Amino acid sequence: MNHGTTQSHPDVLHRHIDSREAQLAILGLGSVGLPLAHAFVAAGFDVLGYDIDGEKVARLERGDNTLHHLPEGFVADLVASGRFHATTDPERLSEVDVAIVCVPTPLDSERKPDLSCVRDAGRKLAAHTRPGVLVVLESTTWPGTTRGVLGDIFAERGRTAGVDVFLAYSPEREDPGRNVPASAIPKLVGGTCEQSKALALRLYSAAIEVVVPVSSAEVAESAKLLENVFRAVNIALVNELKVALAALKVDVWEVIDAASSKPFGFMRFTPGPGLGGHCLPIDPFYLTWIAREHGVATRLVELAGEISREMPKYVVDRAVAALSARGRDVSGARILVLGLAYKPEVDIVTESPSIRLIELLEDLGAACEYSDPYVPVAPTVPGHDIGQRRSLPLDADVVAGFDLVLVATDHKAFDWDMVARSARLVVDTRNALAGRLDGRAHYFKA
Ligand SMILES: NC(=O)c1ccc[n+]([C@@H]2O[C@H](COP(=O)([O-])OP(=O)(O)OC[C@H]3O[C@@H](n4cnc5c(N)ncnc54)[C@H](O)[C@@H]3O)[C@@H](O)[C@H]2O)c1
Repeated sequence: MNHGTTQSHPDVLHRHIDSREAQLAILGLGSVGLPLAHAFVAAGFDVLGYDIDGEKVARLERGDNTLHHLPEGFVADLVASGRFHATTDPERLSEVDVAIVCVPTPLDSERKPDLSCVRDAGRKLAAHTRPGVLVVLESTTWPGTTRGVLGDIFAERGRTAGVDVFLAYSPEREDPGRNVPASAIPKLVGGTCEQSKALALRLYSAAIEVVVPVSSAEVAESAKLLENVFRAVNIALVNELKVALAALKVDVWEVIDAASSKPFGFMRFTPGPGLGGHCLPIDPFYLTWIAREHGVATRLVELAGEISREMPKYVVDRAVAALSARGRDVSGARILVLGLAYKPEVDIVTESPSIRLIELLEDLGAACEYSDPYVPVAPTVPGHDIGQRRSLPLDADVVAGFDLVLVATDHKAFDWDMVARSARLVVDTRNALAGRLDGRAHYFKA
């Protein structure tokens, strides 16, 4: 497409999307940005990936898979297509007609939304993109961010939304480890005006099988929060039920299986050691924060967060009780934590409860090791310190050498039969060994 500075009419961008002449940029090449780049390249677009992480960009340019859960050859194929390039140079954003922002939206030290990455990406776009660019935000955030935060950043540069920049929001529903291509996950699209909505619809319809338009960016932003809050609240509910039913000596897993036989009005959620990952421990607090700013309390959402944050402590109490039932004190006990990643088949340790479990157990004097085929070395995680320990290879001798095996993540790669045969004592937060050890005196669910 024309790379001058004069503004082209939105109709021209519509045509260039249809003809695949439109140049795309994706800002933030992580769990969300990379699969999206793949979907647009597969649809015939040229995609410029922009990231501030120079090491990651260099690896991507070499075709290295930077995320374990992506299929083998995922990035190599992307690079081999000749349609994907990665850069750390923001000036290259001047080349593009469409920019999609997939940068992190964490919480700050006071657990308030931290939009610094979104603002940074927005400032670079406002500084470098040409008039008439379509900018779509995909990062999860509070309703009003696209119009307010991004709109204001462009306005500071004298650029007006709906006139020389078109702003839209399309939430990401990527589920790492599920291995569903981004193109097969239905996508919501909401604009800050009719033109931006129409452009974003045209764009996503070119690469995504099902695109669902909604009336505004704020509806799309809110829908994403609803999806995540729904999961967070329901997981907190089954975790609360787990604690209550354990006191009654009823197996919550059997109860959930039983309730799941109802063909309507029930949806299966399973308990665990707490919430991990990007979405569930963090995103609900974008909603609670913005609601509070408007004088509204979101008590159920807050309570769900509280219950989930208490789960690692509950699991540790169960581990202490299990050790004690075998006449062993937690202090000095050798404990093997199975799984450092927050969920099966991924290498992501963000907010992983396993890390909290290790911290709590070591506070009580236990000596912990972990095994996780996807996390060979424990990375440094903000706010936590479990040192630079390495994953232990899992075999019968290793398992038998520990006083307690704590199942935190049920990776398929673990040899559960071997664990069941070799472990002296097991505390299982995932029901991974049910069927193999149910009813045995050295098997405890938590
Ligand atoms: N991971 C998921 O499963 C998932 C699912 C749905 C939505 N989301 C949301 O999508 C957003 C991105 O999440 P993610 O999991 O892809 O994060 P990620 O940490 O995997 O990747 C983010 C990338 O953005 C880069 N980055 C940071 N600041 C930048 C900047 N100013 N400019 C350019 N690049 C920058 C980082 O270097 C990193 O490579 C978040 O808002 C998250 O909540 C994530």
